[in-house]
Amino acid sequence: MHQFINVCFYRAIRLGKQTLLAAGLGLFILSSASAQDLTITEEAFGCILDWPKVRNTRFQHSDPEKLKEAMRIFRDSVPDVEYPVGTILQLVPFEAMVKHPREKFPNTNGWEFFFLDISKEGTKIADRGDDVVNRSQGVTCLSCHQPAARYDFVCEKGHGCAPIPFDDEKIAAIQKSDLRCKKH
Ligand code: HEC
Repeated sequence: MHQFINVCFYRAIRLGKQTLLAAGLGLFILSSASAQDLTITEEAFGCILDWPKVRNTRFQHSDPEKLKEAMRIFRDSVPDVEYPVGTILQLVPFEAMVKHPREKFPNTNGWEFFFLDISKEGTKIADRGDDVVNRSQGVTCLSCHQPAARYDFVCEKGHGCAPIPFDDEKIAAIQKSDLRCKKH
């Protein structure tokens, strides 16, 4: 009898483990299903000089392979190709574009525009979404980036966007003046 109870006890533990395992597996599946659904907080941003660049544009992606792919699409100006979900692009410290799954922002193939408040203390998100207005020019980010739809809304040079009032030298100077860059 004693032994029987013991066996039952161990079975119960084993069962418990299996249940835990199954529950764990369920959680894992759930979390990987929503991994595509990227959450962007101010933690995603930092000193712009720490990010690799192609020409004027800085790149970030948590997956090094996807980072490489994003930089290649940009460098080779590949048309009709979407940047990997999770790509973050910045030209100046106070503006950013983040690529989500296209269902999230259908008007922009999934791109979310950000207007950021930068200080020595860090980054604050001042505005975000697909209809963010550029404060200095009073027009939406999208209105300028729309003509580059064939290049997944990335303007670069020669993709049809209205020009910004900064030349390459000025852009480099603005990047260097990023207040979050302590060690540079
Ligand atoms: C007056 C038109 C205009 C407006 C408004 C504008 N952009 Fe751009 N943007 C450009 C152009 C042109 C470039 C490419 C400049 C270059 O590489 O020299 C660019 C480049 C960028 C880049 C680098 C990737 C790329 O597309 O080349 C990001 C990121 C970006 N803009 C974000 C924004 C955000 C966010 C806003 C709104 C807060 C915004 N832009 C508003 C014209 C504009």
